[in-house]
Amino acid sequence: MATREVGIGIVGYGLMGRAHSYAYTAAPRIRDLPVRPRLRLMSGRNAEAVSAAARAYGVEETTGDWRALVEHPGIDIVDVCTPPGTHAEIVAAAAATGKAVLCEKPLAASYDSALTAVDAVRRAGVPNAIGFNYRRLPAVSLMKRMIDEGRVGDVLLFRASFLSDEFLDPLIPFDWRFDRALGGTTISDLGAHLVDMALWMAGDIDDVSAQSSTFTTQRSQRAVDVDEASSALVRFASGAGGVFEMARTCARRPCDFWVEVNGTAGTLRFDYPRLNELLYGDAREDDDLYGMRVIRAEHDSHPYAAQWWPIGQGLGYDASFVNQAADLLERWPGGGWDPDLETGLRVQAVCEAMERSAADRRWVSVSEIAAETV
Ligand SMILES: NC(=O)c1ccc[n+]([C@@H]2O[C@H](COP(=O)([O-])OP(=O)(O)OC[C@H]3O[C@@H](n4cnc5c(N)ncnc54)[C@H](O)[C@@H]3O)[C@@H](O)[C@H]2O)c1
Repeated sequence: MATREVGIGIVGYGLMGRAHSYAYTAAPRIRDLPVRPRLRLMSGRNAEAVSAAARAYGVEETTGDWRALVEHPGIDIVDVCTPPGTHAEIVAAAAATGKAVLCEKPLAASYDSALTAVDAVRRAGVPNAIGFNYRRLPAVSLMKRMIDEGRVGDVLLFRASFLSDEFLDPLIPFDWRFDRALGGTTISDLGAHLVDMALWMAGDIDDVSAQSSTFTTQRSQRAVDVDEASSALVRFASGAGGVFEMARTCARRPCDFWVEVNGTAGTLRFDYPRLNELLYGDAREDDDLYGMRVIRAEHDSHPYAAQWWPIGQGLGYDASFVNQAADLLERWPGGGWDPDLETGLRVQAVCEAMERSAADRRWVSVSEIAAETV
């Protein structure tokens, strides 16, 4: 067991505060790490609620002020688990005190704000990472590896959907997810994961054409200014084409996403409800084997799998966060963290291009977004 401690401070105690604190606790149990994470401090605006959460999550102390957490001398990594509209200010303050930063996705609620966060970590030169946790599932990581190995040939098409029913009921009261300035959009909240996987697996996106719908425009007597369901066509710099859909009004769809790549020599498909599997069709195989095979991404030869349970036991959502924490701690303190906030900014540019395209009803080039803010 490593003796050197790394002090962790978690800003926010909701779903992600729980997932991240769990991940730091579990990471040393699944991987031999050079440092020992110590959950020192958690911040939240409601003293009673944050204290109860900290007790449940195994965090030593709490504060009502995230600035006190950022400035605490015992904190090495500031882990940002609050709504997107709050991220940039917290990231910038953490970087200014020389702290490493892990920020939940999307990086911010707008491209401009995301750029502020990236400028701050660039200036400070601190290790920084964005929480695209799904990359760390064995099957998703294997999909990327197989694309890089040429197992589908050149990528021709990329398609991805992320469906949930969390906004379907019009009586759900207003909260930060319905407020664009705080929560960003459905495009950036759900879509950020898909866009990240697209850029990672198929390269840069040049242009987008999107449409958006908001079916319930008022909640708790407040105007909803985010999209509830959006879809987009995209063109990759490589010449590949793509289709995306992100929607939170899909009945009986809890958190269903899938990603598919069709290449000149094969197809790969990941479907989250069956997250330990990867579908693969190899066009170079004997025609007698025509179709898609199921790969069980649990073999010791697959990414992350050997660190976990014996083959056949399967992993879940939590493993993506544990793998994320372990990857970051393993590289501490040298940095070299991946994906970093620059990646978050590239994703944000594509999301913002989709938002603009839907608003203006026209194709929008991703470079248009970045060009305006230079
Ligand atoms: N990677 C993933 O799988 C995943 C899943 C869910 C959410 N997220 C992201 O994580 C971040 C947090 O999401 P969550 O689901 O944990 O949210 P949540 O609502 O469960 O928790 C939000 C936390 O932020 C605090 N907070 C600070 N300022 C706030 C404000 N002005 N309004 C409301 N809450 C405020 C809340 O008190 C709470 O502790 C978001 O960026 C979200 O997009 C990522």
